[in-house]
Amino acid sequence: MIGKSLLGLEGVDKSTIRTILDETCVMRNHIDNNEKNLKVLQGKSIITLFYENSTRTRTSFEDAGKYLGACFVNMAVSNSSVAKGESLVDTGITIDRMGTDLIIMRHSVSGACKMLDESVNAKVINAGDGMHEHPTQALLDMATMEEIFGSLEGLKVAIIGDIKHSRVARSNIYGLLTMGAEVTLCAPRTLLPIGIEDMGVRVCSSVEEAITGVDVVMGLRIQLERQKKSLFPSIAEYNKYYGINDKRMKLANDGAVFMHPGPVNRGVEVSSSILDSKLSFVNRQVTNGLAVRMALLKLMLGE
Ligand code: NCD
Repeated sequence: MIGKSLLGLEGVDKSTIRTILDETCVMRNHIDNNEKNLKVLQGKSIITLFYENSTRTRTSFEDAGKYLGACFVNMAVSNSSVAKGESLVDTGITIDRMGTDLIIMRHSVSGACKMLDESVNAKVINAGDGMHEHPTQALLDMATMEEIFGSLEGLKVAIIGDIKHSRVARSNIYGLLTMGAEVTLCAPRTLLPIGIEDMGVRVCSSVEEAITGVDVVMGLRIQLERQKKSLFPSIAEYNKYYGINDKRMKLANDGAVFMHPGPVNRGVEVSSSILDSKLSFVNRQVTNGLAVRMALLKLMLGE
């Protein structure tokens, strides 16, 4: 159903996302019951190829593969022949010829995963490519929202922060709109892609307006590593106008929650008082990240 590879959520239909989210619930039960020896992927081999830093995504893919019984190898890019000048495609083909069933890749260049996918027989999961997509993050975000609210249909989600450089925002927009949620974006004008409204989202210039009446407030990190020049005056000023704090969170609906893909810069995109409060589901997102990745590995590699 997912096809050979999962490169993004653009064009992925509702029933496919439904299948992944349903399987995620099954996997979450296994995690909550501490069942880590499931053996459904015995004989399958998975390799991660991360050209960018990661804590949650890479580790949870590794746990997911091992809990399901797959043979799992992490390629340390900085210690590999990549450091000797080997091209991405040549590295991919080398891994492919080892009989690898699935390559999970993160890369700083948008479209790099598609390029890899076109060069190898192995399946590919995009674990984040530049400013393009990060499908498993959006799937775990949707799984978390569904766990809290029961359904994504009609759910009001505000995404606040560096939308322009965020593959997380892009994948969430595709996924959430497909599942019937309403998406509002808010960022300084310099951190919003031109024409983003055409994706079917509401755009607000004031964070107060964006948050008022929503069910989910999703904060995003300022991606300084992707900004070639300063796109806003200072971190302090960003926090003053766009930071999520107690006063701003009160504008959201009763029962509203705070989410963030991590890593969080405390005191920049969100205050510690919100991040450490019971409104914050950031840690639950991490558990759901493991569940979603187990679900995907099983759906893509299982018999
Ligand atoms: C995100 C990413 O790498 O795109 N992190 C993640 O996967 N949890 C967001 C970020 O780095 O800010």
